[in-house]
Amino acid sequence: MTDKTDQDRVLIFDTTLRDGEQSPGATMTHDEKLEIAALLDEMGVDIIEAGFPIASDGDFAAVSEIAKNSVNSVICGLARANFKDIDRCWEAVRHARQPRIHTFIGTSPLHRAIPNLTMDEMADRIHDTVTHARNLCDNVQWSPMDATRTEYDYLCRVIEIAIKAGATTINIPDTVGYTAPRESADLIARLIADVPGAEDVTFATHCHNDLGMATANALAAVDAGARQVECTINGLGERAGNTALEEVVMALRVRNDIMPYQTRIDTRKIMNISRRVAAVSGFAVQFNKAIVGKNAFAHESGIHQDGMLKNAETFEIMRPEDIGLSETNLVMGKHSGRAALRAKLKDLGYELADNQLKDVFVRFKALADRKKEIYDEDLVALMSESSSDP
Ligand code: KIV
Ligand code: ZN
Repeated sequence: MTDKTDQDRVLIFDTTLRDGEQSPGATMTHDEKLEIAALLDEMGVDIIEAGFPIASDGDFAAVSEIAKNSVNSVICGLARANFKDIDRCWEAVRHARQPRIHTFIGTSPLHRAIPNLTMDEMADRIHDTVTHARNLCDNVQWSPMDATRTEYDYLCRVIEIAIKAGATTINIPDTVGYTAPRESADLIARLIADVPGAEDVTFATHCHNDLGMATANALAAVDAGARQVECTINGLGERAGNTALEEVVMALRVRNDIMPYQTRIDTRKIMNISRRVAAVSGFAVQFNKAIVGKNAFAHESGIHQDGMLKNAETFEIMRPEDIGLSETNLVMGKHSGRAALRAKLKDLGYELADNQLKDVFVRFKALADRKKEIYDEDLVALMSESSSDP
């Protein structure tokens, strides 16, 4: 795979195992990481960021093993801007068929203050570390952390240095979820226009969800020329999380008319991997989460259920099968109507005449007023009461 992609192809870079795992409490075991990496590879993720090899021996072992087992995906490891981190990262990813080193440094005024480097000293550090990484590996990604709060001229300067030193992907992180869609697009468009050598590398977008705009910001960046989206399954990640892979991929699929970009993701594998990541990370998916939430394909109101039974497109913009769900869930509750009750009972094996349905419907509504959700067993009990009525 070359780093410079087709004009309409968007690379999916999944960082569930690195940025996602950094969420407090989301730690995964070695075997769980291997399982998730295999699922990501199988679903068509272009680049898997498998971990931060210098962080611990466990992370190093997981990245090495994932690299050895990789099939189609590029396997990437994270490294800070020093030779020791980069060497350790290379030691772990070099086993992959397609390895990548991802090195980064915080370039905004707040982040520059931490290592206490002047702008010139930091520029030299970037030159030296990217050159070092490129001498080890021909696939190098470089990130100016907190790019969206870095002075524009300095950002251009350091990106140019990284490109000249051999970076093949330039990632623009919105580390604290501070940007907004128009600004995200403008930044990418300006960088591509202004930085010498920009046309020879892939620009990536890496957004966080602190203001709930991670997906919108990532898609805006794609529209402006970014061709790699960094994301995680279920939007797992520090604080409010990262851009959710399933949201970006399904948005590009459903609204391909206005966002004509393709990914390699087999969307039918989304639901399974979402459930596995929720289980192994211990982070349950909120019920109304876009695409993978329990309610994303569930309908309770009578009007919606009636519409769905006549034509699913009335209230659904994607088919549940597209993400690997077997069917839409018509939830039975107090807002449900007769049509949904008749359909549900038919599924359970009860074909009712109109007068029978009328009677069951009255008792169903009474039960639904007492109980939040009516399960199949409740309906079966209701039907057995009907048949035992004198
Ligand atoms: O959010 C961020 O800035 C990061 C970098 C390490 C790319 O995760
Ligand atoms: Zn991040």
